[in-house]
Amino acid sequence: MAPSSLFISLLLAILLCICPTNARPLKISESMLNFICSKTEDPAFCKQALKSDPRTATTDLQGLSQVAVDLANATAAGTYPLIQTQLNQTKDPALKQQYTVCLDSYKEAIDNIEYAREKLSSKDYIAANQAASACMTDATKCQDATTTTEAFSLPQETKKLFQLCKITFLISVRLSAIN
Ligand SMILES: *[C@@H]1O[C@H](CO)[C@@H](O)[C@H](O)[C@H]1NC(C)=O
Ligand SMILES: *[C@@H]1O[C@H](CO)[C@@H](O)[C@H](O)[C@H]1NC(C)=O
Repeated sequence: MAPSSLFISLLLAILLCICPTNARPLKISESMLNFICSKTEDPAFCKQALKSDPRTATTDLQGLSQVAVDLANATAAGTYPLIQTQLNQTKDPALKQQYTVCLDSYKEAIDNIEYAREKLSSKDYIAANQAASACMTDATKCQDATTTTEAFSLPQETKKLFQLCKITFLISVRLSAIN
């Protein structure tokens, strides 16, 4: 075999090996995960939460925004009925007041998360930012209302909700910057 045809075969072999890999959608890198999570109050929680979803290992930033919005929804929609039950059962007027505020905030948060999901799907990242930011405000409203410690795990769940809405916010900001 002439050296030049050997070179061409090698080149072809390399191209055939590399091209299919490059054709795949751009996977989220560890450094992008670190970058996004470094902007949250609890980077370890952020990374652990995102990585708890198997999609995170193979998806791009657009896909990661869906992961974040699903996690936020799961926390909000999962905690809402718990607040409802507590509100129903408590006789303490202070707790009643606190659960009423939180039930309202969670209802708004669930709506905002749903809206953020729609806007992320249609790649309207500015509207998605606003919805995720509104969800952070909703979580803060409940957090400010929970003064007593009897409120089951409500303070922890609300902190989680805030973080997940913030992660959704940070990803949509990143998406709006690169799209
Ligand atoms: C939000 O979470 C709840 C509870 O896990 C689930 O029933 C609901 O289908 C979720 N909504 C969406 C749009 O995924
Ligand atoms: C609240 O309590 C009433 C009865 O006191 C009951 O009928 C209702 O199902 C309860 N709701 C929740 C969400 O627990």
